Amino acid sequence: MFSDRQLDLFDHVGGAFAQPESGRLTMQELYRIAAGRAGIPMQEMNTRSPVGEKKTQRSLLQRQVRWHCQSLKAQGLLERVEDARGVWQLTEAGKQKLRKARSGVSVLAFDTKLGIAIWGDAHRVFSSWNEPIFLCLTSPPYPLRRHRAYGGPSEAEYTDFITRHVEPIVKNLVPGGNIVLSVSPNIFEEGSPARSLYLDRLTIALCDRLGLRLMDKLIWVSNQAPGPFQWASKHRMQLNTGYEYLLWFCNDPRQCIADNRRVLEPHTEKHKKFIAAGGVKKARVCSDGAHRQVLGAYSNPTEGRIMRNVIYEANTCASQRAYKKRARELGLEAHGAPMPLALARKLIRFMTEAEQLVVDPFGGSMTTGLAAESEGRRWASTELVYDYVRGGAERFTTDDDVEIHLPLTT
Ligand SMILES: C[S@@+](CC[C@H](N)C(=O)[O-])C[C@H]1O[C@@H](n2cnc3c(N)ncnc32)[C@H](O)[C@@H]1O
Repeated sequence: MFSDRQLDLFDHVGGAFAQPESGRLTMQELYRIAAGRAGIPMQEMNTRSPVGEKKTQRSLLQRQVRWHCQSLKAQGLLERVEDARGVWQLTEAGKQKLRKARSGVSVLAFDTKLGIAIWGDAHRVFSSWNEPIFLCLTSPPYPLRRHRAYGGPSEAEYTDFITRHVEPIVKNLVPGGNIVLSVSPNIFEEGSPARSLYLDRLTIALCDRLGLRLMDKLIWVSNQAPGPFQWASKHRMQLNTGYEYLLWFCNDPRQCIADNRRVLEPHTEKHKKFIAAGGVKKARVCSDGAHRQVLGAYSNPTEGRIMRNVIYEANTCASQRAYKKRARELGLEAHGAPMPLALARKLIRFMTEAEQLVVDPFGGSMTTGLAAESEGRRWASTELVYDYVRGGAERFTTDDDVEIHLPLTT
């Protein structure tokens, strides 16, 4: 999930201009927003290294951002603001292409046999929702380091932002229904290798303010690109991060509707032999008495192995690659950080039964919707950015029942 955004900032540069109403940014603002969207600390964006024969000290990431501005200019999407040095703005064509849903307007973007995708603001859409929700599976936007008058939430605003968007969904959650947030641990205190406590603050707020209970912090191990660059590669004080969290909450844990029998994994050959040989051969006490094994334990054949709370899933997948290719063919900006389809499918299977409703307020390229559809669950997703929701629609076009209501404007 992180590799694309760390290796290539193109999507984040385009996305940054889509955020302010004016579509206008200074280079400094652009660096900051692109870094925030990509989850790169500002120090990393500003880090200079020797470039060229003269070994001039330059920031390679800033250079990449400037390069992408030139590419967008060449595509007629971006222009320099006259009489304002170092300020860029979207052209009319750029505004059309990267535009966000105007606040107050929600449009049915497309619908399928089992779901709907809405181009609009999540809070607005779910505030007037009145259908039971069984699961909310979503990857919210990452926190930006500093407050700005526009764009995604800063770290300080993050808890309020997420709580505000999740609250109307919680109000519609069935007893025992679940909320899963895919979130990044890669946020650091400014100028420090110490990790931010923003997820701890968010977790406590969701429990205290919305009455949710923390079921688990599932660990998702992926092949993300090495980082944090500044603290692991440069100062060598940190390790490269190899996981993300899936924060899992339930509104009524004793009635939790998740069922691990829906996601059983095959037993290993070794374990099958162990069962066939009658299980534990000798009664024993392990872990200083904390765990006792009786004679014959584990000898009953079971349907499969219970999934562990550490999930291994590559952060890129064929479905994402096909989506990005198709979006670009249509001249749409492709989402830079989609969730792997297999991960979404597994979580949906674990936490819901067929036909139950799954929602994703921050739908992006509609991965949750596609996963729900594939698992026979009903779904509803919202997304603010036209290009993402329109590009996401293309992931359903093999389905005879899909009806796309958003015209292509390119
Ligand atoms: C991390 S991405 C989600 C990626 C998604 N899981 C996927 O697989 O493509 C977060 C998305 O939330 C969208 N977003 C941010 N604020 C929103 C809001 N208020 N309402 C709807 N969508 C919003 C952003 O445009 C962005 O596409």
